[in-house]
Amino acid sequence: MKLFDVYPINDITITKAQGSYVWDNDGVQYLDMYGGHAVISIGHTHPHWVKRIEDQLAQIAFYSNSIRIPIQQQLADKLGQLSGKTDYQLFLCNSGAEANENALKLASFHTGRKKVIAFSKAFHGRTSLAVAVTDNKNYVAPVNETDNAIFLPFNDQVALKSCFEANGKEIAAVIIEGIQGVGGINVADDDFLRLIRSLCDQYGAVYIADSVQCGCGRSGQFFAHDYAGVNADIYTMAKGMGNGFPVAGILIAPHIQPKHFMLGTTFGGNHLACAAALAVLEVMEQENLIEMAKQRGMYLMNKLKAIDGLQNVRGRGLMIGFDVPEHLKDLKKQLLFSHKVFTGEAKPNVIRLLPSLALSRKQADEFLEALADAIQDIASAPSA
Ligand SMILES: Cc1ncc(COP(=O)(O)O)c(C=O)c1O
Repeated sequence: MKLFDVYPINDITITKAQGSYVWDNDGVQYLDMYGGHAVISIGHTHPHWVKRIEDQLAQIAFYSNSIRIPIQQQLADKLGQLSGKTDYQLFLCNSGAEANENALKLASFHTGRKKVIAFSKAFHGRTSLAVAVTDNKNYVAPVNETDNAIFLPFNDQVALKSCFEANGKEIAAVIIEGIQGVGGINVADDDFLRLIRSLCDQYGAVYIADSVQCGCGRSGQFFAHDYAGVNADIYTMAKGMGNGFPVAGILIAPHIQPKHFMLGTTFGGNHLACAAALAVLEVMEQENLIEMAKQRGMYLMNKLKAIDGLQNVRGRGLMIGFDVPEHLKDLKKQLLFSHKVFTGEAKPNVIRLLPSLALSRKQADEFLEALADAIQDIASAPSA
Protein backbone atom coordinates (compact mmCIF):
# COMPACT_ATOMS: atom_id res chain seq x y z
CA MET A 1 0.00 0.00 0.00
CA LYS A 2 1.23 3.50 -0.84
CA LEU A 3 0.92 6.47 1.49
CA PHE A 4 -1.66 9.03 0.33
CA ASP A 5 0.58 11.73 -1.03
CA VAL A 6 -0.72 14.96 0.48
CA TYR A 7 2.47 16.33 2.07
CA PRO A 8 5.37 17.89 0.14
CA ILE A 9 8.17 16.43 2.27
CA ASN A 10 11.87 17.11 2.80
CA ASP A 11 14.00 14.05 2.16
CA ILE A 12 15.10 13.72 5.81
CA THR A 13 14.36 10.91 8.29
CA ILE A 14 14.45 11.97 11.94
CA THR A 15 15.14 9.10 14.32
CA LYS A 16 16.05 10.80 17.59
CA ALA A 17 15.11 14.01 19.38
CA GLN A 18 16.06 15.77 22.59
CA GLY A 19 15.32 19.28 23.80
CA SER A 20 15.71 21.66 20.86
CA TYR A 21 17.66 19.19 18.70
CA VAL A 22 16.73 16.31 16.41
CA TRP A 23 19.00 13.80 14.66
CA ASP A 24 18.58 12.04 11.31
CA ASN A 25 19.27 8.38 10.51
CA ASP A 26 22.90 9.24 9.69
CA GLY A 27 23.36 10.83 13.11
CA VAL A 28 23.39 14.40 11.75
CA GLN A 29 22.18 16.93 14.34
CA TYR A 30 19.62 19.64 13.49
CA LEU A 31 18.52 22.63 15.55
CA ASP A 32 14.73 22.60 15.70
CA MET A 33 13.42 26.16 15.33
CA TYR A 34 10.15 24.77 13.92
CA GLY A 35 9.11 22.63 16.90
CA GLY A 36 7.42 20.15 14.57
CA HIS A 37 4.97 22.94 13.69
CA ALA A 38 4.62 24.64 17.09
CA VAL A 39 3.94 21.32 18.78
CA ILE A 40 7.12 20.94 20.84
CA SER A 41 6.49 23.19 23.82
CA ILE A 42 8.70 21.86 26.62
CA GLY A 43 11.38 20.29 24.40
CA HIS A 44 11.57 16.93 22.65
CA THR A 45 11.46 13.83 24.88
CA HIS A 46 11.59 15.84 28.10
CA PRO A 47 12.43 13.26 30.85
CA HIS A 48 9.46 14.24 33.07
CA TRP A 49 7.08 13.93 30.11
CA VAL A 50 8.53 10.54 29.11
CA LYS A 51 8.31 9.23 32.68
CA ARG A 52 4.74 10.39 33.26
CA ILE A 53 3.59 8.77 30.00
CA GLU A 54 5.51 5.55 30.77
CA ASP A 55 4.11 5.36 34.30
CA GLN A 56 0.58 5.98 33.03
CA LEU A 57 1.00 3.43 30.23
CA ALA A 58 1.95 0.77 32.76
CA GLN A 59 -1.27 1.47 34.72
CA ILE A 60 -4.00 2.17 32.17
CA ALA A 61 -3.83 3.89 28.78
CA PHE A 62 -7.48 4.20 27.89
CA TYR A 63 -11.00 3.73 29.04
CA SER A 64 -14.07 5.41 27.62
CA ASN A 65 -15.69 8.58 28.96
CA SER A 66 -18.44 6.46 30.51
CA ILE A 67 -16.49 6.12 33.77
CA ARG A 68 -14.72 8.48 36.17
CA ILE A 69 -11.26 9.51 34.95
CA PRO A 70 -9.76 11.51 37.85
CA ILE A 71 -6.68 12.54 35.86
CA GLN A 72 -9.03 14.66 33.68
CA GLN A 73 -9.93 16.72 36.75
CA GLN A 74 -6.24 17.01 37.71
CA LEU A 75 -5.56 18.33 34.22
CA ALA A 76 -8.49 20.76 34.41
CA ASP A 77 -7.22 22.07 37.77
CA LYS A 78 -3.69 22.56 36.47
CA LEU A 79 -4.93 24.24 33.29
CA GLY A 80 -7.11 26.56 35.36
CA GLN A 81 -4.16 27.42 37.59
CA LEU A 82 -1.68 28.14 34.78
CA SER A 83 -4.11 29.93 32.47
CA GLY A 84 -5.80 31.86 35.27
CA LYS A 85 -9.22 30.74 33.93
CA THR A 86 -10.05 28.85 37.11
CA ASP A 87 -13.83 29.10 36.69
CA TYR A 88 -13.84 27.76 33.10
CA GLN A 89 -14.91 24.23 32.15
CA LEU A 90 -12.75 21.80 30.17
CA PHE A 91 -13.81 19.54 27.29
CA LEU A 92 -11.06 17.28 26.00
CA CYS A 93 -10.62 16.08 22.43
CA ASN A 94 -7.81 15.08 20.08
CA SER A 95 -6.78 17.74 17.56
CA GLY A 96 -6.92 21.44 16.79
CA ALA A 97 -9.60 21.07 14.15
CA GLU A 98 -11.71 19.00 16.51
CA ALA A 99 -11.29 21.63 19.22
CA ASN A 100 -12.50 24.38 16.88
CA GLU A 101 -15.28 22.18 15.50
CA ASN A 102 -16.58 21.64 19.02
CA ALA A 103 -16.18 25.30 19.97
CA LEU A 104 -18.19 26.42 16.94
CA LYS A 105 -20.87 23.81 17.54
CA LEU A 106 -21.11 24.81 21.17
CA ALA A 107 -21.44 28.49 20.23
CA SER A 108 -24.28 27.56 17.89
CA PHE A 109 -26.01 25.39 20.52
CA HIS A 110 -25.61 28.18 23.08
CA THR A 111 -26.94 31.02 20.93
CA GLY A 112 -29.32 29.08 18.68
CA ARG A 113 -27.69 30.94 15.76
CA LYS A 114 -25.78 29.88 12.65
CA LYS A 115 -23.44 32.60 11.40
CA VAL A 116 -19.76 32.78 12.29
CA ILE A 117 -17.39 35.69 11.68
CA ALA A 118 -13.83 34.75 10.73
CA PHE A 119 -10.97 36.76 9.25
CA SER A 120 -8.76 37.02 6.19
CA LYS A 121 -5.83 34.55 6.26
CA ALA A 122 -7.41 32.59 9.13
CA PHE A 123 -6.60 28.90 9.53
CA HIS A 124 -8.79 26.91 11.89
CA GLY A 125 -8.41 23.31 10.66
CA ARG A 126 -9.60 20.83 8.04
CA THR A 127 -12.89 19.43 9.36
CA SER A 128 -16.21 20.73 8.09
CA LEU A 129 -16.94 23.78 10.28
CA ALA A 130 -13.29 24.52 10.99
CA VAL A 131 -12.44 24.56 7.31
CA ALA A 132 -15.54 26.58 6.44
CA VAL A 133 -14.11 29.41 8.57
CA THR A 134 -10.60 28.93 7.15
CA ASP A 135 -9.64 31.48 4.52
CA ASN A 136 -8.11 29.17 1.91
CA LYS A 137 -10.28 27.89 -0.92
CA ASN A 138 -7.85 25.01 -1.61
CA TYR A 139 -8.82 23.31 1.63
CA VAL A 140 -12.58 23.73 1.25
CA ALA A 141 -14.37 20.83 -0.49
CA PRO A 142 -17.73 21.55 -2.12
CA VAL A 143 -19.51 19.82 0.77
CA ASN A 144 -17.89 22.25 3.25
CA GLU A 145 -19.13 25.38 1.46
CA THR A 146 -21.64 27.33 3.52
CA ASP A 147 -23.25 30.76 3.67
CA ASN A 148 -22.82 30.70 7.44
CA ALA A 149 -19.19 31.83 7.34
CA ILE A 150 -18.61 35.58 7.04
CA PHE A 151 -15.02 36.65 6.29
CA LEU A 152 -13.86 40.12 7.30
CA PRO A 153 -10.47 41.79 6.94
CA PHE A 154 -8.17 40.97 9.89
CA ASN A 155 -7.80 43.79 12.44
CA ASP A 156 -10.38 45.98 10.64
CA GLN A 157 -12.53 47.54 13.38
CA VAL A 158 -14.83 49.41 11.00
CA ALA A 159 -15.70 46.25 9.03
CA LEU A 160 -16.35 44.32 12.23
CA LYS A 161 -18.65 47.00 13.65
CA SER A 162 -20.67 47.32 10.47
CA CYS A 163 -21.00 43.56 10.13
CA PHE A 164 -22.46 43.36 13.65
CA GLU A 165 -24.74 46.34 12.94
CA ALA A 166 -26.11 44.56 9.86
CA ASN A 167 -26.24 40.93 11.11
CA GLY A 168 -25.74 41.11 14.88
CA LYS A 169 -28.78 39.04 15.82
CA GLU A 170 -27.64 36.16 13.58
CA ILE A 171 -24.02 35.93 14.72
CA ALA A 172 -23.30 32.84 16.81
CA ALA A 173 -19.56 33.40 17.14
CA VAL A 174 -16.46 35.30 16.21
CA ILE A 175 -13.40 33.05 15.86
CA ILE A 176 -9.91 34.50 15.77
CA GLU A 177 -6.30 33.40 16.30
CA GLY A 178 -4.42 35.61 18.78
CA ILE A 179 -1.51 35.38 16.37
CA GLN A 180 -2.26 33.93 12.95
CA GLY A 181 0.12 31.06 12.32
CA VAL A 182 -0.48 29.49 8.91
CA GLY A 183 -1.50 32.97 7.67
CA GLY A 184 2.06 34.20 8.27
CA ILE A 185 2.45 35.35 11.92
CA ASN A 186 -0.01 38.24 12.06
CA VAL A 187 -0.68 39.52 15.56
CA ALA A 188 -4.30 40.44 16.37
CA ASP A 189 -4.40 44.02 17.67
CA ASP A 190 -5.26 44.25 21.36
CA ASP A 191 -7.88 46.90 20.51
CA PHE A 192 -9.39 44.60 17.93
CA LEU A 193 -9.76 41.75 20.45
CA ARG A 194 -11.30 44.17 22.95
CA LEU A 195 -13.79 45.27 20.28
CA ILE A 196 -14.67 41.62 19.57
CA ARG A 197 -15.32 41.16 23.29
CA SER A 198 -17.59 44.17 23.55
CA LEU A 199 -19.54 43.45 20.34
CA CYS A 200 -20.02 39.81 21.39
CA ASP A 201 -21.36 41.06 24.73
CA GLN A 202 -23.62 43.61 23.06
CA TYR A 203 -25.09 41.18 20.52
CA GLY A 204 -25.01 37.95 22.56
CA ALA A 205 -22.39 36.21 20.38
CA VAL A 206 -19.61 33.90 21.53
CA TYR A 207 -15.96 35.00 21.31
CA ILE A 208 -13.82 31.97 20.37
CA ALA A 209 -10.06 32.38 20.85
CA ASP A 210 -8.31 29.88 18.58
CA SER A 211 -5.20 29.20 20.65
CA VAL A 212 -4.28 25.96 18.90
CA GLN A 213 -0.96 27.37 17.70
CA CYS A 214 -0.44 30.56 19.72
CA GLY A 215 -1.63 29.14 23.06
CA CYS A 216 0.05 27.06 25.77
CA GLY A 217 2.50 29.78 26.70
CA ARG A 218 4.13 30.19 23.29
CA SER A 219 3.39 33.92 23.07
CA GLY A 220 4.80 34.71 26.52
CA GLN A 221 1.28 34.70 28.02
CA PHE A 222 -0.67 31.49 28.54
CA PHE A 223 -3.02 32.56 25.71
CA ALA A 224 -1.83 35.13 23.15
CA HIS A 225 -5.31 36.68 23.41
CA ASP A 226 -4.55 37.53 27.08
CA TYR A 227 -2.42 40.49 25.92
CA ALA A 228 -5.71 42.32 25.23
CA GLY A 229 -6.74 42.05 28.89
CA VAL A 230 -10.21 40.62 28.17
CA ASN A 231 -11.48 37.05 28.36
CA ALA A 232 -12.81 35.00 25.48
CA ASP A 233 -15.84 32.75 26.01
CA ILE A 234 -14.09 29.70 24.58
CA TYR A 235 -10.36 28.99 24.14
CA THR A 236 -9.33 26.14 21.85
CA MET A 237 -5.98 24.45 22.33
CA ALA A 238 -3.98 21.58 20.84
CA LYS A 239 -0.40 21.52 19.45
CA GLY A 240 1.81 22.51 22.41
CA MET A 241 -0.63 21.00 24.89
CA GLY A 242 0.82 17.49 24.58
CA ASN A 243 4.36 18.28 23.35
CA GLY A 244 3.77 15.74 20.57
CA PHE A 245 1.22 13.50 22.25
CA PRO A 246 -2.10 14.09 20.43
CA VAL A 247 -4.35 15.91 22.88
CA ALA A 248 -6.58 18.96 22.54
CA GLY A 249 -9.19 20.77 24.53
CA ILE A 250 -11.55 23.67 24.83
CA LEU A 251 -11.88 25.94 27.86
CA ILE A 252 -15.47 27.07 28.23
CA ALA A 253 -16.66 30.10 30.23
CA PRO A 254 -18.97 29.35 33.17
CA HIS A 255 -22.08 30.93 31.60
CA ILE A 256 -22.11 28.32 28.80
CA GLN A 257 -24.02 25.36 30.18
CA PRO A 258 -23.34 21.73 29.26
CA LYS A 259 -26.05 19.20 28.36
CA HIS A 260 -25.42 15.49 28.22
CA PHE A 261 -24.36 14.31 24.76
CA MET A 262 -24.16 17.80 23.18
CA LEU A 263 -20.42 17.11 22.66
CA GLY A 264 -18.56 13.83 22.80
CA THR A 265 -15.60 11.79 21.63
CA THR A 266 -14.25 8.27 22.05
CA PHE A 267 -10.57 9.04 22.54
CA GLY A 268 -10.68 12.58 23.94
CA GLY A 269 -9.48 12.84 27.54
CA ASN A 270 -8.01 9.34 27.69
CA HIS A 271 -5.68 8.58 30.59
CA LEU A 272 -2.51 8.64 28.53
CA ALA A 273 -3.31 11.95 26.81
CA CYS A 274 -4.10 13.55 30.16
CA ALA A 275 -0.80 12.31 31.61
CA ALA A 276 1.09 13.84 28.68
CA ALA A 277 -0.75 17.17 28.96
CA LEU A 278 -0.26 17.30 32.74
CA ALA A 279 3.45 16.62 32.32
CA VAL A 280 3.66 19.56 29.91
CA LEU A 281 2.00 21.94 32.36
CA GLU A 282 4.12 20.70 35.27
CA VAL A 283 7.33 21.30 33.31
CA MET A 284 6.10 24.73 32.17
CA GLU A 285 5.52 25.69 35.77
CA GLN A 286 8.74 24.18 37.16
CA GLU A 287 10.95 25.66 34.43
CA ASN A 288 9.10 28.97 34.17
CA LEU A 289 8.75 28.42 30.42
CA ILE A 290 6.12 31.06 29.70
CA GLU A 291 8.38 33.82 30.97
CA MET A 292 11.33 32.17 29.22
CA ALA A 293 9.41 32.26 25.93
CA LYS A 294 8.73 35.95 26.40
CA GLN A 295 12.36 36.82 27.17
CA ARG A 296 13.86 34.60 24.49
CA GLY A 297 11.38 35.89 21.94
CA MET A 298 12.29 39.52 22.66
CA TYR A 299 15.97 38.68 22.39
CA LEU A 300 15.50 36.92 19.05
CA MET A 301 13.26 39.61 17.60
CA ASN A 302 15.66 42.41 18.50
CA LYS A 303 18.54 40.55 16.86
CA LEU A 304 16.46 39.68 13.79
CA LYS A 305 15.43 43.30 13.32
CA ALA A 306 19.11 44.21 13.03
CA ILE A 307 19.77 41.75 10.18
CA ASP A 308 19.97 43.40 6.78
CA GLY A 309 17.57 41.95 4.24
CA LEU A 310 14.96 40.52 6.62
CA GLN A 311 11.76 42.54 6.61
CA ASN A 312 8.85 43.03 8.91
CA VAL A 313 10.05 41.01 11.89
CA ARG A 314 6.97 40.38 14.03
CA GLY A 315 5.35 38.12 16.59
CA ARG A 316 5.21 37.59 20.32
CA GLY A 317 7.25 35.27 22.51
CA LEU A 318 8.47 32.29 20.52
CA MET A 319 6.03 32.73 17.68
CA ILE A 320 8.02 34.88 15.29
CA GLY A 321 7.83 35.61 11.59
CA PHE A 322 9.71 37.70 9.08
CA ASP A 323 9.45 38.35 5.35
CA VAL A 324 12.18 37.15 3.07
CA PRO A 325 12.89 39.28 -0.02
CA GLU A 326 12.96 37.68 -3.47
CA HIS A 327 16.76 37.38 -3.62
CA LEU A 328 16.71 35.32 -0.37
CA LYS A 329 13.81 33.09 -1.38
CA ASP A 330 15.91 29.93 -0.81
CA LEU A 331 16.83 30.91 2.74
CA LYS A 332 14.69 28.24 4.41
CA LYS A 333 16.21 25.48 2.25
CA GLN A 334 19.70 26.85 2.80
CA LEU A 335 19.15 26.83 6.56
CA LEU A 336 17.89 23.27 6.49
CA PHE A 337 20.26 21.57 4.09
CA SER A 338 23.49 23.52 4.59
CA HIS A 339 23.17 24.66 8.21
CA LYS A 340 20.97 21.90 9.65
CA VAL A 341 18.31 24.18 11.08
CA PHE A 342 14.59 23.48 10.79
CA THR A 343 12.33 26.52 10.41
CA GLY A 344 8.70 26.92 9.35
CA GLU A 345 7.27 28.91 6.49
CA ALA A 346 4.11 30.61 5.31
CA LYS A 347 3.39 31.28 1.69
CA PRO A 348 4.58 33.19 -0.21
CA ASN A 349 7.71 34.47 1.56
CA VAL A 350 7.52 34.21 5.34
CA ILE A 351 9.84 32.27 7.61
CA ARG A 352 8.20 31.20 10.86
CA LEU A 353 10.05 30.40 14.07
CA LEU A 354 8.18 28.12 16.48
CA PRO A 355 10.85 26.49 18.65
CA SER A 356 10.47 24.83 22.02
CA LEU A 357 9.77 27.34 24.80
CA ALA A 358 12.87 25.96 26.51
CA LEU A 359 15.16 27.23 23.73
CA SER A 360 18.34 28.38 25.45
CA ARG A 361 20.15 31.65 24.81
CA LYS A 362 23.03 29.61 23.36
CA GLN A 363 20.67 27.86 20.95
CA ALA A 364 19.12 31.20 19.96
CA ASP A 365 22.63 32.47 19.17
CA GLU A 366 23.40 29.29 17.26
CA PHE A 367 20.34 29.97 15.11
CA LEU A 368 21.26 33.63 14.54
CA GLU A 369 24.75 32.62 13.46
CA ALA A 370 23.39 29.99 11.05
CA LEU A 371 20.97 32.56 9.67
CA ALA A 372 23.71 35.12 9.04
CA ASP A 373 25.83 32.42 7.35
CA ALA A 374 22.93 31.21 5.20
CA ILE A 375 22.23 34.78 4.04
CA GLN A 376 25.92 35.19 3.28
CA ASP A 377 25.99 31.88 1.30
CA ILE A 378 23.14 33.07 -0.90
CA ALA A 379 24.62 36.55 -1.38
CA SER A 380 28.00 35.15 -2.42
CA ALA A 381 26.66 32.35 -4.67
CA PRO A 382 27.30 32.96 -8.37
CA SER A 383 24.01 34.08 -9.92
CA ALA A 384 22.48 31.58 -12.34
C1 LIG B 1 -4.59 28.20 14.56
C2 LIG B 1 -4.85 26.77 14.19
N1 LIG B 1 -6.07 26.25 14.41
C3 LIG B 1 -6.33 24.97 14.11
C4 LIG B 1 -5.38 24.13 13.57
C5 LIG B 1 -5.72 22.72 13.25
O1 LIG B 1 -5.07 21.85 14.12
P1 LIG B 1 -4.93 20.29 13.77
O2 LIG B 1 -3.99 20.18 12.63
O3 LIG B 1 -4.42 19.68 15.05
O4 LIG B 1 -6.29 19.80 13.43
C6 LIG B 1 -4.10 24.64 13.34
C7 LIG B 1 -3.05 23.79 12.73
O5 LIG B 1 -2.05 24.24 12.19
C8 LIG B 1 -3.83 25.98 13.64
O6 LIG B 1 -2.61 26.53 13.43
